[in-house]
Amino acid sequence: MKIGVLTGGGDCPGLNAVIRAVVRKGVTVHGFEFLGYRDGWRGPLEQVSRPLGIAECRGILPRGGTILGSSRTNPFAVDGGLDRIRHTLATDGVDALIAIGGEDTLGVATRLAEAGLPVVGVPKTIDNDLSGTDFTFGFDTAVNIATEAIDRLHTTAESHHRALVVEVMGRHAGWIALHAGIAGGASIVLIPEQPFDIDEVCRLVESRFQTRYAPILVVSEGAVPADGSGMALQNEQKDEFGHVRLGGIGARLADEIERRTGKEARTVVLGHIQRGGTPTAFDRWLATRFGLAAVDAVADGDYGVMVALRGTQVVRVPLAEGTGELKLVSPHEYAAAQVFFG
Ligand code: F6P
Repeated sequence: MKIGVLTGGGDCPGLNAVIRAVVRKGVTVHGFEFLGYRDGWRGPLEQVSRPLGIAECRGILPRGGTILGSSRTNPFAVDGGLDRIRHTLATDGVDALIAIGGEDTLGVATRLAEAGLPVVGVPKTIDNDLSGTDFTFGFDTAVNIATEAIDRLHTTAESHHRALVVEVMGRHAGWIALHAGIAGGASIVLIPEQPFDIDEVCRLVESRFQTRYAPILVVSEGAVPADGSGMALQNEQKDEFGHVRLGGIGARLADEIERRTGKEARTVVLGHIQRGGTPTAFDRWLATRFGLAAVDAVADGDYGVMVALRGTQVVRVPLAEGTGELKLVSPHEYAAAQVFFG
């Protein structure tokens, strides 16, 4: 059998570890051949691929990014996209496809599987917001990078008596902000799921200064003020899945804090640093297990599924279940962080 592999959406530490595990087990245990499609769904759409064998996977386990490249191409936003993918798979002699991606990439995989294509999904996102799995790889790395940044910012905040706002990724879900905020001892964590009251934020900032410590605020890029004044948009550009490019809430918040409290407030935007570089040991372990399980699903002819972590077990769940709705931070989980606010 020949298997196509692709990685779509934002890059994420651990993608190469998945590819390596898929290929290693696929070749040595199942006797499969592989073809790597370039740049997410653009690869099968435009029939762009590269060879993918054990030799191409040597040394990639600790490497960030993806050797296959990625994009946010949506084949369903293109005329005849589905037929073009079918045609590519047929002419390349590809019998099944392993798609590694987040809600958008796996959303496409779900629709392709519904149209009868043999697809297996592997969930990835630093945001950890896919509902079918307890964790996605990449999240642990992002949380560790953000936590280290917060640790470092404490010293400058305290030396200069400044409020420091750390903007982290998280479009719809505040998992990175919540975990890094708790781990880094933040005095306030603001997430998309819980619109914030700016008066209350400023009250907490002032109470923190009264303890002679400087406040660190961790804010998800998708956090919004409760008054409904809207998300801070960097620009109006949208990708092919209709997502606007976020960014800017940290700077707006720092301005507002400075204006209302008279205290100096600065912003640090971690941005793509959170997705870059080598994955943590946990993410390498999870990505490897996902890769091994995905290639086994192909060997079993079990299509239309994605692999998922449930507790300590890697299981298969229907693709539609994994991509149906986002996994968000509950009020109960947020309350755990609130104990430390102010
Ligand atoms: O989905 C992962 C993610 O890193 C989000 O946290 C963020 O909103 C988005 O990707 C940024 O996308 P891009 O790198 O395309 O600007």
